Amino acid sequence: MQSFWNTLEKPILIQAPMDDVTDTVFRQIIARCGKPDVFFTEFTNVEGMCSRGKDKVGKRIVFTPVERPIVAQIWGLDPLKFTETAKLIKRMGFDGIDINMGCPEKSVVKRGSCGAIIDNPKLAKEIILAVRKGAVGLPISVKTRIGVKNIQTEKWIKFLLEMDLDAITIHGRTVAEMSDVPNHWDEIGKAVRLRDSMKSKTLIIGNGDIGQERRCRKI
Ligand SMILES: Cc1cc2nc3c(=O)[nH]c(=O)nc-3n(C[C@H](O)[C@H](O)[C@H](O)COP(=O)(O)O)c2cc1C
Repeated sequence: MQSFWNTLEKPILIQAPMDDVTDTVFRQIIARCGKPDVFFTEFTNVEGMCSRGKDKVGKRIVFTPVERPIVAQIWGLDPLKFTETAKLIKRMGFDGIDINMGCPEKSVVKRGSCGAIIDNPKLAKEIILAVRKGAVGLPISVKTRIGVKNIQTEKWIKFLLEMDLDAITIHGRTVAEMSDVPNHWDEIGKAVRLRDSMKSKTLIIGNGDIGQERRCRKI
Protein backbone atom coordinates (compact mmCIF):
# COMPACT_ATOMS: atom_id res chain seq x y z
CA MET A 1 0.00 0.00 0.00
CA GLN A 2 1.28 3.50 -0.90
CA SER A 3 1.93 5.57 2.25
CA PHE A 4 0.16 8.94 2.13
CA TRP A 5 3.36 10.44 3.62
CA ASN A 6 5.06 9.87 0.23
CA THR A 7 2.35 11.73 -1.69
CA LEU A 8 2.73 15.06 0.13
CA GLU A 9 4.44 17.99 -1.50
CA LYS A 10 7.21 19.62 0.54
CA PRO A 11 7.31 21.75 2.61
CA ILE A 12 4.72 19.82 4.62
CA LEU A 13 2.63 21.71 7.17
CA ILE A 14 1.29 19.52 9.97
CA GLN A 15 -1.10 20.26 12.79
CA ALA A 16 0.71 19.02 15.91
CA PRO A 17 -1.26 16.76 18.25
CA MET A 18 -2.47 18.61 21.35
CA ASP A 19 -4.21 16.95 24.25
CA ASP A 20 -7.58 18.55 25.06
CA VAL A 21 -7.22 20.92 22.08
CA THR A 22 -7.06 19.18 18.70
CA ASP A 23 -10.34 17.27 18.77
CA THR A 24 -12.61 16.81 15.74
CA VAL A 25 -14.40 20.16 16.27
CA PHE A 26 -11.10 22.04 16.43
CA ARG A 27 -9.85 20.24 13.32
CA GLN A 28 -13.03 20.96 11.35
CA ILE A 29 -12.65 24.69 12.12
CA ILE A 30 -8.97 24.64 11.11
CA ALA A 31 -9.86 22.71 7.93
CA ARG A 32 -12.15 25.57 6.96
CA CYS A 33 -9.81 28.48 7.67
CA GLY A 34 -6.37 27.10 6.75
CA LYS A 35 -6.11 23.39 6.22
CA PRO A 36 -2.70 21.85 6.98
CA ASP A 37 -1.35 18.95 4.88
CA VAL A 38 -1.89 16.48 7.74
CA PHE A 39 -4.03 16.41 10.86
CA PHE A 40 -3.23 14.51 14.08
CA THR A 41 -5.64 13.49 16.84
CA GLU A 42 -4.92 14.13 20.52
CA PHE A 43 -2.86 11.36 22.08
CA THR A 44 -5.10 8.46 23.05
CA ASN A 45 -4.25 5.82 25.63
CA VAL A 46 -4.34 2.21 24.41
CA GLU A 47 -5.08 0.79 27.86
CA GLY A 48 -8.10 3.13 28.02
CA MET A 49 -9.18 2.02 24.54
CA CYS A 50 -9.20 -1.60 25.73
CA SER A 51 -11.01 -0.89 29.03
CA ARG A 52 -14.66 -0.70 30.05
CA GLY A 53 -14.45 3.08 29.64
CA LYS A 54 -13.46 2.77 25.98
CA ASP A 55 -16.48 4.70 24.70
CA LYS A 56 -15.41 7.78 26.65
CA VAL A 57 -11.75 7.46 25.59
CA GLY A 58 -12.78 6.69 21.99
CA LYS A 59 -14.23 10.21 21.59
CA ARG A 60 -10.63 11.33 21.18
CA ILE A 61 -10.31 9.49 17.86
CA VAL A 62 -13.54 10.51 16.17
CA PHE A 63 -13.02 12.26 12.81
CA THR A 64 -14.88 13.46 9.71
CA PRO A 65 -13.75 13.17 6.05
CA VAL A 66 -12.79 16.87 5.83
CA GLU A 67 -9.97 16.18 8.32
CA ARG A 68 -8.15 13.72 6.07
CA PRO A 69 -5.36 12.84 5.77
CA ILE A 70 -5.52 12.19 9.50
CA VAL A 71 -3.22 10.26 11.80
CA ALA A 72 -4.35 8.77 15.13
CA GLN A 73 -1.78 9.23 17.86
CA ILE A 74 -1.64 6.58 20.59
CA TRP A 75 0.35 6.00 23.75
CA GLY A 76 0.63 3.40 26.50
CA LEU A 77 2.70 0.49 27.76
CA ASP A 78 1.09 -2.84 26.87
CA PRO A 79 2.04 -4.11 23.37
CA LEU A 80 -1.08 -6.32 23.17
CA LYS A 81 -3.29 -3.28 23.71
CA PHE A 82 -1.33 -1.40 21.06
CA THR A 83 -2.20 -4.19 18.60
CA GLU A 84 -5.89 -4.13 19.52
CA THR A 85 -6.09 -0.34 19.26
CA ALA A 86 -4.21 -0.37 15.92
CA LYS A 87 -6.76 -2.86 14.53
CA LEU A 88 -9.58 -0.53 15.53
CA ILE A 89 -7.84 2.53 14.06
CA LYS A 90 -7.37 0.65 10.79
CA ARG A 91 -11.07 -0.31 10.74
CA MET A 92 -12.06 3.31 11.41
CA GLY A 93 -10.35 4.44 8.19
CA PHE A 94 -7.49 6.54 9.55
CA ASP A 95 -4.63 7.31 7.16
CA GLY A 96 -1.88 6.49 9.64
CA ILE A 97 -0.96 5.65 13.23
CA ASP A 98 1.52 7.62 15.32
CA ILE A 99 3.09 6.31 18.53
CA ASN A 100 3.91 8.88 21.19
CA MET A 101 7.44 8.33 22.51
CA GLY A 102 8.08 11.92 23.52
CA CYS A 103 5.53 13.41 25.91
CA PRO A 104 7.50 14.77 28.91
CA GLU A 105 4.59 15.06 31.38
CA LYS A 106 5.62 13.62 34.77
CA SER A 107 2.43 11.55 35.12
CA VAL A 108 3.13 9.55 31.94
CA VAL A 109 6.94 9.43 32.16
CA LYS A 110 6.69 8.07 35.75
CA ARG A 111 4.76 5.06 34.35
CA GLY A 112 7.55 4.34 31.84
CA SER A 113 5.49 5.42 28.82
CA CYS A 114 5.81 8.23 26.23
CA GLY A 115 9.13 10.09 26.69
CA ALA A 116 10.46 7.42 29.06
CA ILE A 117 10.42 4.85 26.22
CA ILE A 118 13.50 6.58 24.73
CA ASP A 119 15.53 4.84 27.46
CA ASN A 120 13.81 1.49 26.82
CA PRO A 121 14.48 0.42 23.20
CA LYS A 122 13.36 -3.15 23.95
CA LEU A 123 9.85 -1.89 24.78
CA ALA A 124 9.97 0.59 21.89
CA LYS A 125 10.62 -2.27 19.48
CA GLU A 126 7.85 -4.42 20.98
CA ILE A 127 5.38 -1.54 20.68
CA ILE A 128 6.29 -0.72 17.07
CA LEU A 129 6.00 -4.39 16.05
CA ALA A 130 2.70 -4.68 17.94
CA VAL A 131 1.26 -1.67 16.12
CA ARG A 132 2.52 -3.02 12.78
CA LYS A 133 0.72 -6.31 13.50
CA GLY A 134 -2.61 -4.56 14.13
CA ALA A 135 -2.28 -1.83 11.52
CA VAL A 136 -1.67 -4.18 8.57
CA GLY A 137 -0.36 -1.83 5.90
CA LEU A 138 -1.23 1.53 7.49
CA PRO A 139 1.75 3.91 7.66
CA ILE A 140 3.33 3.96 11.13
CA SER A 141 5.17 6.93 12.61
CA VAL A 142 6.72 7.86 15.96
CA LYS A 143 6.81 11.26 17.63
CA THR A 144 9.78 11.55 19.93
CA ARG A 145 12.46 13.72 21.54
CA ILE A 146 16.27 13.66 21.30
CA GLY A 147 16.89 11.97 24.68
CA VAL A 148 15.56 11.65 28.22
CA LYS A 149 18.13 13.37 30.46
CA ASN A 150 20.89 13.90 27.90
CA ILE A 151 20.95 14.42 24.14
CA GLN A 152 21.22 10.99 22.46
CA THR A 153 20.13 11.81 18.94
CA GLU A 154 22.48 9.46 17.12
CA LYS A 155 21.84 6.38 19.25
CA TRP A 156 18.06 6.79 19.58
CA ILE A 157 17.23 8.02 16.07
CA LYS A 158 19.50 5.35 14.53
CA PHE A 159 17.48 2.75 16.43
CA LEU A 160 14.18 4.23 15.20
CA LEU A 161 15.44 4.44 11.62
CA GLU A 162 16.33 0.73 11.80
CA MET A 163 12.66 0.05 12.63
CA ASP A 164 11.79 1.20 9.11
CA LEU A 165 9.05 3.65 10.08
CA ASP A 166 7.20 5.75 7.50
CA ALA A 167 7.87 8.96 9.43
CA ILE A 168 9.52 10.20 12.61
CA THR A 169 8.58 13.54 14.16
CA ILE A 170 11.49 14.85 16.21
CA HIS A 171 10.84 17.41 18.91
CA GLY A 172 14.31 18.88 19.29
CA ARG A 173 14.58 18.82 23.07
CA THR A 174 15.21 16.16 25.71
CA VAL A 175 12.40 15.04 28.01
CA ALA A 176 14.09 16.83 30.92
CA GLU A 177 14.20 20.08 28.92
CA MET A 178 10.39 20.08 28.57
CA SER A 179 9.72 23.29 26.53
CA ASP A 180 12.10 25.37 28.64
CA VAL A 181 15.03 25.84 26.25
CA PRO A 182 15.25 26.74 22.56
CA ASN A 183 14.66 23.78 20.26
CA HIS A 184 17.92 22.08 19.17
CA TRP A 185 17.35 22.35 15.40
CA ASP A 186 20.98 21.32 14.86
CA GLU A 187 20.16 17.90 16.37
CA ILE A 188 17.23 17.50 13.96
CA GLY A 189 19.66 18.32 11.13
CA LYS A 190 21.97 15.63 12.53
CA ALA A 191 19.10 13.12 12.39
CA VAL A 192 18.43 13.97 8.73
CA ARG A 193 22.11 13.45 7.86
CA LEU A 194 22.07 10.14 9.73
CA ARG A 195 18.94 9.07 7.82
CA ASP A 196 20.63 9.94 4.52
CA SER A 197 23.83 8.08 5.44
CA MET A 198 21.73 5.00 6.30
CA LYS A 199 19.91 5.32 2.95
CA SER A 200 16.65 5.17 4.90
CA LYS A 201 13.40 6.30 3.26
CA THR A 202 11.85 7.46 6.56
CA LEU A 203 10.46 11.01 6.44
CA ILE A 204 11.84 13.20 9.25
CA ILE A 205 9.58 15.96 10.53
CA GLY A 206 11.00 18.78 12.65
CA ASN A 207 8.92 19.98 15.60
CA GLY A 208 9.27 22.53 18.39
CA ASP A 209 9.50 26.21 19.35
CA ILE A 210 5.79 26.90 18.85
CA GLY A 211 5.37 27.68 22.55
CA GLN A 212 8.75 29.42 22.57
CA GLU A 213 7.57 31.77 19.84
CA ARG A 214 4.38 32.42 21.79
CA ARG A 215 6.42 33.39 24.85
CA CYS A 216 8.65 35.65 22.73
CA ARG A 217 5.65 37.45 21.29
CA LYS A 218 4.36 38.19 24.79
CA ILE A 219 7.57 40.01 25.80
C1 LIG B 1 -1.70 21.88 25.28
C2 LIG B 1 -0.74 20.98 24.58
C3 LIG B 1 -1.06 19.65 24.42
C4 LIG B 1 -0.17 18.78 23.75
N1 LIG B 1 -0.53 17.47 23.55
C5 LIG B 1 0.28 16.65 22.81
C6 LIG B 1 -0.13 15.34 22.46
O1 LIG B 1 -1.24 14.88 22.80
N2 LIG B 1 0.73 14.59 21.73
C7 LIG B 1 1.96 15.07 21.31
O2 LIG B 1 2.70 14.35 20.63
N3 LIG B 1 2.35 16.31 21.60
C8 LIG B 1 1.54 17.12 22.33
N4 LIG B 1 1.92 18.41 22.57
C9 LIG B 1 3.18 18.93 21.97
C10 LIG B 1 2.89 19.59 20.62
O3 LIG B 1 2.38 18.65 19.71
C11 LIG B 1 4.16 20.19 20.02
O4 LIG B 1 5.13 19.17 19.89
C12 LIG B 1 4.73 21.31 20.87
O5 LIG B 1 3.77 22.22 21.30
C13 LIG B 1 5.75 22.08 20.05
O6 LIG B 1 6.79 22.51 20.83
P1 LIG B 1 6.84 23.83 21.80
O7 LIG B 1 6.69 23.31 23.20
O8 LIG B 1 8.18 24.39 21.57
O9 LIG B 1 5.74 24.71 21.40
C14 LIG B 1 1.07 19.28 23.26
C15 LIG B 1 1.38 20.63 23.43
C16 LIG B 1 0.50 21.47 24.07
C17 LIG B 1 0.88 22.92 24.23
